[in-house]
Amino acid sequence: MDELVVGGVTRVWIGARPRPEEVLGDVAARRVAVMVQPGVPATIGRRFAAGISGIAVPIVIEVPDGEAAKTFAVADEVCRRLAAGGLERSDLIVGVGGGALTDLAGFVAGVFLRGIRVHYTPTTLVGAIDAAIGGKSGLNLDAKNLVGLFRHPARVVIDTEVIAGLPRPLLRQGVAEALKAGMIGDPGLVDLLEANGLDAPAGEVVSRAIRVKTTIVERDFRDEGERAHLNYGHTIGHAVEIAGGMSHGEAVAVGMVAAGRVSALLAGFTGEERQRAIIARLGLPTAASEVSADAVRGLLDRDKKRAQGALRMVVLDEVARPRVVVVDDATVTAALAAVGIGEG
Ligand SMILES: NC(=O)c1ccc[n+]([C@@H]2O[C@H](COP(=O)([O-])OP(=O)(O)OC[C@H]3O[C@@H](n4cnc5c(N)ncnc54)[C@H](O)[C@@H]3O)[C@@H](O)[C@H]2O)c1
Ligand SMILES: [Zn+2]
Repeated sequence: MDELVVGGVTRVWIGARPRPEEVLGDVAARRVAVMVQPGVPATIGRRFAAGISGIAVPIVIEVPDGEAAKTFAVADEVCRRLAAGGLERSDLIVGVGGGALTDLAGFVAGVFLRGIRVHYTPTTLVGAIDAAIGGKSGLNLDAKNLVGLFRHPARVVIDTEVIAGLPRPLLRQGVAEALKAGMIGDPGLVDLLEANGLDAPAGEVVSRAIRVKTTIVERDFRDEGERAHLNYGHTIGHAVEIAGGMSHGEAVAVGMVAAGRVSALLAGFTGEERQRAIIARLGLPTAASEVSADAVRGLLDRDKKRAQGALRMVVLDEVARPRVVVVDDATVTAALAAVGIGEG
């Protein structure tokens, strides 16, 4: 069991089978709205709802699965359900699910009655180490997360048995972010993933990855500086995700390989091959040779325009020593070649 406090606001509880008291905290809420997504296995959803019903009146609100939940239309519907259920400012929302669910729950909790308390019980590894931590919430318009809030949840409760029991493809999505956290902030986490692959102990992976993110978020909550380090692997990764239709975790894995090459070229990073081997060991892709170089370049050019003509990427001097650099076209070409893009 592990407990930490983020931003002086969020209490994070990490352990096996949390009791209802852990999920609810010291809240004296009369009503608790439990928001859940359909993809959460029924046993997990039921366990949370049953535990809570002994203490407060639960109002269970199921929303569409995955990204389909992150819309104004769904947020509108949920707010109406909360109003109809008589939720007051002193009451509580508990979000049970992956990152899409907690992003919606955080947004709704931030605007309903101008803000009511929210707790998250993330049920995916991405949710546990990334989406639930750091106080960003988001809805999608034409672009992902175009609308959202900076507002911390009051509690995050992570059941390590749920995380350890995830289907492997879902676990891999999160492990890509865990490795990213290790590369930018925790050599011990990198060692752990290198030695154990996907069998690395869930509790330790979760605690370590969360500590990396919270350390950065506490110094730069509003994303004006150091928080950019969390984008390691995400510049080329995002472009590959969109151009190649890959999952986010797979694209970030490829993006880290590319960023590893940029780091070697511009910062003398010597861990490039080791990082590639760890990514392979985790069953994540290290190349994306089927993706069009032109499409990726087009997307990177868009980023460049948005950033006044300079493409910026996070590089590593060594593990846990990240910094942001401006990257020239020749280096981008080399980075894409490192992941098999544009070699055709
Ligand atoms: N706010 C942030 O800072 C932040 C950071 C990272 C990601 N995100 C957001 O998080 C989302 C991605 O997170 P995600 O991958 O958890 O997405 P998700 O919530 O869509 O979950 C992925 C799938 O797993 C299912 N699922 C949930 N728990 C499960 C379990 N225990 N066993 C089996 N299936 C389960 C879900 O129903 C869904 O179908 C994106 O919307 C992204 O924008 C936000
Ligand atoms: Zn990511």
